[in-house]
Order: sequence, then structure tokens, then C-alpha cells
Amino acid sequence: MKIYMTEDYQTMSRKAANILSAQIILKPTSVLGLATGSTPVGMYKQLVIWYEKGDLDFSAIKTVNLDEYVGLEPTHEQSYHHYMQENLFDHVNINPANTNVPDGLAADPQGECRWYNEVIHRLGGIDIQVLGMGHNGHIGFNEPGNAFELETHVVDLSERTIQANARFFDSMDDVPRQAMTMGIKSIMMAKKILLMVSGEDKADAVNRAFTGPVTPQMPASILQLHPYVTLVGDRAALSRLMENR
Ligand code: F6R
Repeated sequence: MKIYMTEDYQTMSRKAANILSAQIILKPTSVLGLATGSTPVGMYKQLVIWYEKGDLDFSAIKTVNLDEYVGLEPTHEQSYHHYMQENLFDHVNINPANTNVPDGLAADPQGECRWYNEVIHRLGGIDIQVLGMGHNGHIGFNEPGNAFELETHVVDLSERTIQANARFFDSMDDVPRQAMTMGIKSIMMAKKILLMVSGEDKADAVNRAFTGPVTPQMPASILQLHPYVTLVGDRAALSRLMENR
């Protein structure tokens, strides 16, 4: 595993954008696996800046996102579709037909997951998968205890996640109870992984993921077994891991 420790969130974002840019420049037809959440926002901003300067061309790039809430329309402010439009797709010359996010409104979410797996396979697999990580070590919506051997599947969100998400919705009834997520198997099949972590509050999880046992109780620990992982994190998130390596 290659580790880049940066001073702060901004330099972490720039380093991650560097890695993704290199992928885009070296292989303009790359399949990028993308993540949402707060961690990659700065990376997307940097990519847009470089695109506007004329340094990046997304016209032949294809993307597949990690996850989406079941029941949210693509235009819903909390949907990951909407996040991707806002943070990247609306600002670069990517062909909308080349972007893939599971359809939160699919009448048959299980069928949607099967279709999504086919899409990934038909694209020839993911060249580089961007990941963030939860405080409990989750990647995508793969929570502790979930099986390692799944591709895209439907997950029931934990009561904790539902409660935490409630603030983003008008009423408790509107809060999604399920999500579709690439499974650990889908993530592990990506040729390269780019894991981004920022902030002191992630330090313990990062340390456990890479110095502890590989176990479904700490989903990110599976990345110890991937042959090509680049971990980019700021000093606050990596401090504990660095002490223990
Ligand atoms: C996002 C995703 C999640 C997040 C993780 C960290 O598509 O699947 O696993 O990467 O929850 O979220 P942030 O970056 O908000 O700390």
C-alpha cells in the first residue's frame, strides 16, 4: 500500500485529484469508481479547476458510483445522483450517458443491483475506485458484519444511520430506510483503490483498518488484501496509523 500523508484537508484533496488526473490523462477512456460524502468534495473541486484550465478531458471517461438511497429521486437534494451533478458532472465535459449511479426509484431494487453489476462488468471493470471511510470502518454502505463476498446489493440502513440522516429530511417518514451499494467484492475487483481520509475523528478507524485483523467487523480492513491501494490522508487522520507501522 502506498501512503501519502498531507498537512491538511486541502492538500489531501489536491493529492487525490492528482492521482485521479494521472489516471484520466494516461487512460482517457478510464472507468472511474466514485464516492460521495464530505471527504471527496475538495478533490472534485480541484478536478473541476483543472478541467476549466484545459488540463483534463472527461469526454471518454466513464463513471460508476458506489451507492444510492432507495426511494430518492435523482433530483432529490440528498440523493447521490444530485451530489454527483452538483460536485462534478455539471461542471465538466462528461457524457451523461457515461455516468452510472444506481436508480433510487427503481421499482425492483434487487433487479437494479443485478443490472448495475452487469453495467460494471460490461464496462470491463473499474480502473480506479475512490473511497471514503466511515468511523466504524464502513466503505460504500457496507457496514460492520456485512458479508465480504457480495457485489452490488440492497442494504437496510441501521437505526443509527436513519436517525443521523433525519436532519436532512422534512419528516421521519421521508428518511430512506434502505440503500443500494456496491459490495466489498465489487470494490475489491477494481484494479486500483484510492482511499481518502481526513480528520482526527477518523484516526482510530484508519489505524484499526490497517494494523488490525482483516474482518467483516471492520469492512475497510479487507483493503489490506488488495494489491494496489493508495491511501491519501491528512496528518490528523493518519497520525495513529503512522505511529503503529
Ligand atoms: C459515499 C460512501 C460512504 C462514505 C463514508 C465517509 O459514497 O459510500 O462510505 O465514503 O461514509 O463519509 P464522509 O466522507 O462524509 O466522512
